[in-house]
Amino acid sequence: MNITLSQGDVSSRCEAILRSLPDWFGIEESLLEYVRDSVLHPTWVAQDTDGPAFGFITLREHFPSSFEVHCLAVHADRRRSGCGLALMQASEAWAKTRGARFMQVKTIAAGHPSLAYAETRAFYERVGYLPLEVFPDLWHPRNPCLQLIKAL
Ligand SMILES: CC(C)(COP(=O)(O)OP(=O)(O)OC[C@H]1O[C@@H](n2cnc3c(N)ncnc32)[C@H](O)[C@@H]1OP(=O)(O)O)[C@@H](O)C(=O)NCCC(=O)NCCS
Repeated sequence: MNITLSQGDVSSRCEAILRSLPDWFGIEESLLEYVRDSVLHPTWVAQDTDGPAFGFITLREHFPSSFEVHCLAVHADRRRSGCGLALMQASEAWAKTRGARFMQVKTIAAGHPSLAYAETRAFYERVGYLPLEVFPDLWHPRNPCLQLIKAL
């Protein structure tokens, strides 16, 4: 598996990856926003040599010292094979070289019944992210937001 900082337009492949994960990216408007953002913000893709990308991560820089995991997705057929972890490690290392001290991520909080997002929280905790605060109304009262953070 190769992880590379994307130099070209990988939006169509990112879109295919997101569409393989309807339990997480089922809202068309936000899916298309993530696709657009894969071109506007630093994005790493995971692929086999000469194969299509099957995972990606997009970061946003809020301050030179703090970045955010804006979008992270591994194609449904390739989940649980170390890709998510490798994408996190590559992008964190890059942010660190740019002086970042913290990485944050927002996801759906445990108050939501979704089993899919319980898996997402398990992943983030496994890769070193600690819960910082729940924002009940940031997105929608039905989708409480959990902010997690990691010191780099
Ligand atoms: C979350 C996601 C990015 C993780 O990527 P991945 O390649 O599947 O995960 P990895 O294989 O790198 O997992 C690393 C470790 O995280 C933990 N982990 C990963 N998926 C998990 C799950 N579904 N349940 C519990 N723990 C999990 C495990 O400890 C795993 O190590 P192990 O397989 O040796 O036990 C990916 O599954 C995905 O795209 N999920 C759907 C979309 C999503 O949740 N995006 C993130 C925010 S919207």
